[in-house]
Amino acid sequence: MYNSKIAGLGFFVPENVVTNDDLSKIMDTNDEWIQERTGIRERRHVVKGEDTTTSMGVKAAQKAIERAGIDKNDIDFIVFATLSPDYYFPGPGVLVQRDLGLKTVGALDIRNQCSGFVYGISVADQYIKSGMYKNVLVIGSELHSHGLDMTTRGRGVSVIFGDGAGAAVLTREEDPKKGILSTHLHSEGEHAEELSLIAPGMGKRWVTDIIGDADPEDTSYFPYMNGQFVFKNAVVRFSEVIMEGLQANNLTPRDIDMLIPHQANLRISQFIQKKFGLSDDQVFNNIMKYGNTTAASIPIALTEAWEAGKVKEGDLVVLAAFGSGFTWGSVIIRW
Ligand code: UT7
Repeated sequence: MYNSKIAGLGFFVPENVVTNDDLSKIMDTNDEWIQERTGIRERRHVVKGEDTTTSMGVKAAQKAIERAGIDKNDIDFIVFATLSPDYYFPGPGVLVQRDLGLKTVGALDIRNQCSGFVYGISVADQYIKSGMYKNVLVIGSELHSHGLDMTTRGRGVSVIFGDGAGAAVLTREEDPKKGILSTHLHSEGEHAEELSLIAPGMGKRWVTDIIGDADPEDTSYFPYMNGQFVFKNAVVRFSEVIMEGLQANNLTPRDIDMLIPHQANLRISQFIQKKFGLSDDQVFNNIMKYGNTTAASIPIALTEAWEAGKVKEGDLVVLAAFGSGFTWGSVIIRW
């Protein structure tokens, strides 16, 4: 049995900044409402045709591979987490294999929305622990802006999400006290529809029905969120899964050097920070600049924290996520 560690990190966000004031010009919203409820000041939106979920993921991955100090031919496996793939199928994992020019290594696509990166890290960690692979590339990337309802009808969701990608290279760690100590994953499908995008699924309405209806009032193509219900569940599950991870390693919240929560809402992060008695230096947030980038939010935040020197060797780093599914999870790392 080996441990795995994060050997390289990278992120990419599109240059195009969309402020709250920009949004207030195209829908009935305002900077005060968005900042007060979410903490978001601006987000990035891909300019049509300039990037895709895969291309952003590839750019983040190139950086992570370079920083890991390995050759791309040393990558043994690709894990790609997204809710906004370029194609309905195949998933973006194989497009990364092609566009990065990797060997014909396996590529796995993860469909766990905001928890996608945490699920991806957990999968990569198991492969490395078992000795099957030495270097695994894990990517979280989202292109939300192309699929949002940018009218007043969709404002409860569309002001929150932003585009971007983050990536990590996980590699074998021989010291059992270092690297990823444990991962903890959960789901509760009872609430699947509370944060969901129903079309173009193959569920009750088939694609031929949807095309036949061609109804401009059909909102099933847009994400739906029961905001307050999701918020209430998020604060409970975040707290539970962080404690679960700490207890599994005989640790307490006082041992945390850096908590990187999924960037769903600054108010959720602040709630968790207060609950665990953490200082501003112990929790990293960047939702103010990027909004909620779903599967990309943790690797973007982790990369920025690392670049700023806020994640150092020996630190106890905790990643935690909650989102659509519902799914949630945590990762406990001795850096
Ligand atoms: O990443 C996955 C996990 N996601 C989350 O954890 C998100 C959890 N939920 C939330 O963050 C919050 O519920 C939201 C930020 C999404 C919404 O905040 P809220 O305080 O729950 O607002 P609300 O949905 O209850 O809406 C309050 C009011 C409504 O108006 P009325 O009915 O009180 O007149 C909305 O129509 O705010 C209105 N509203 C807006 N007003 C201006 C909703 N969206 C907007 C908007 N601008 N963008």
